Amino acid sequence: MTRKINIFDTTLRDGEQSPGASMNTEEKLIIARQLIRMNVDVIEAGFPISSPGDFKSVEEIGRIAGDACTVCGLTRAVDKDIEVAAEALRTAKRPRIHTGLGVSPSHLRDKLHLTEDEAIERAVRAVKLARNFVDDVEFYAEDAGRADQDFLVRIVEAAVKAGATVVNIPDTTGYNLPWAFGARIADLRERVDGIEDVTISVHTHNDLGMATALAIEAVRNGATQVECTINGLGERAGNTALEEVVMAIRMHGEELDAHTDIVTQELTRASKLVSSITGMTVQANKAIVGANAFAHSSGIHQDGVLKARDTYEIIDPADVGAGGSQIILTARSGHAALRHRMGELGFTFTDEEFEDIYQAFLEVADKKKEVYDEDLESIVHERERVSTAVWNLDAVQVSCGFPLTPTATITLTNMGGETFTACAYGTGPIDAAYKAVDQIVAVANDLAEFSVKAVTRGIDALGEVTVRVTAENGEVYIGRGSDGDIIVSSTKAYLNALNRLISDQAR
Ligand code: KIV
Ligand code: ZN
Repeated sequence: MTRKINIFDTTLRDGEQSPGASMNTEEKLIIARQLIRMNVDVIEAGFPISSPGDFKSVEEIGRIAGDACTVCGLTRAVDKDIEVAAEALRTAKRPRIHTGLGVSPSHLRDKLHLTEDEAIERAVRAVKLARNFVDDVEFYAEDAGRADQDFLVRIVEAAVKAGATVVNIPDTTGYNLPWAFGARIADLRERVDGIEDVTISVHTHNDLGMATALAIEAVRNGATQVECTINGLGERAGNTALEEVVMAIRMHGEELDAHTDIVTQELTRASKLVSSITGMTVQANKAIVGANAFAHSSGIHQDGVLKARDTYEIIDPADVGAGGSQIILTARSGHAALRHRMGELGFTFTDEEFEDIYQAFLEVADKKKEVYDEDLESIVHERERVSTAVWNLDAVQVSCGFPLTPTATITLTNMGGETFTACAYGTGPIDAAYKAVDQIVAVANDLAEFSVKAVTRGIDALGEVTVRVTAENGEVYIGRGSDGDIIVSSTKAYLNALNRLISDQAR
């Protein structure tokens, strides 16, 4: 059996320190319930002395957590902080006080104005006081990533002797390279007396984009608790993202001799929940939980994924509760991806037909960033309309605007291959186009209805036009046309209705 790595979630404490991400107690409880569902080992529920809201959150989360997980409250190495945290944690079945102080030269000198010996004294006093209230005390050596290593060894050893059950080694400023941070953990394991009896925790920040790498390297060197947040929320560039650490451990468990007990299928739901509550959107290309994490856009990749998912996917989307692999149809998509999606929509084609469809698809894809299902349906229907047409549209050109007179020039080809061009004025560009069509087609009718709608989302959406024309004998014919250009779709729709009228009356 591999080593169990405890997942300590600090979304509700360090995560909430993200500018703009503050949450009320009700919202924190919703997230806490999801963390419990996900089976995290520790929830850091807040910093009780910092505000009545934080106090209440720690108290309420302690109440709902029961035996499911440890609930932790943060303190400085200050008596009053510890007493207030102990009070807030009275509701928790498994309470933990997380106390500590800065240990790097800059923190000691510029922030705390303490000598190394005074800092050790303060750490020992805080841990002992916390142990009077709870059995589980975590000592954090803030800015350990930039501390003098010999001093770090001394202060961690003093905290362990004073009764700490967990020692937290944070890279508070996200300064370290993975191997240097891993070496610090290995060194602590070698030199701190009593370290084998406590849990080594790591808490890394993402200032250089390496928070997850540092945490994993620390696990490789003996850490058995990782502190992290959903979506990597947290102070400045954020903390280690929980979903990344959990999936990295899951993928490389044997090599790391490690596993977690997280229900990974809940990761996507947790990400969405935290994003919607905090209003902090997740970047589309975010590992594991970003909208594009399982989306394939290039034709080569799409072809590979359709043949075997693992050609370009290391994680099964179902394992993290994501919907599934997505094939995004763009101008870079190849035949395989288009044929696959058309098949899913229920369309089948001969090879020859499909080649036509693929060319029409490329035309649409060239104009749009992404081609949606509705666009594909339009392409197929447009092709059906053209293949049965008496008259086909070759070109339409309009000039309009203020104070111009709307003018349209239309070129049509009939079934015999003859081509005709006409030009007309109108009250608007569509009216001008329809008059030019009338000059060529010359079939009496009344335009009874005209409507237009966007087939898909966005400014580059295909516009679908529907028209109803009434023939001299009172029969009504409907025509449809779609295109990214509304004048073109209007002309196609009108022509489609006239083609039906002509075919019907010829019969
Ligand atoms: O980054 C940090 O060092 C912290 C401590 C308070 C654990 O958040
Ligand atoms: Zn932090």
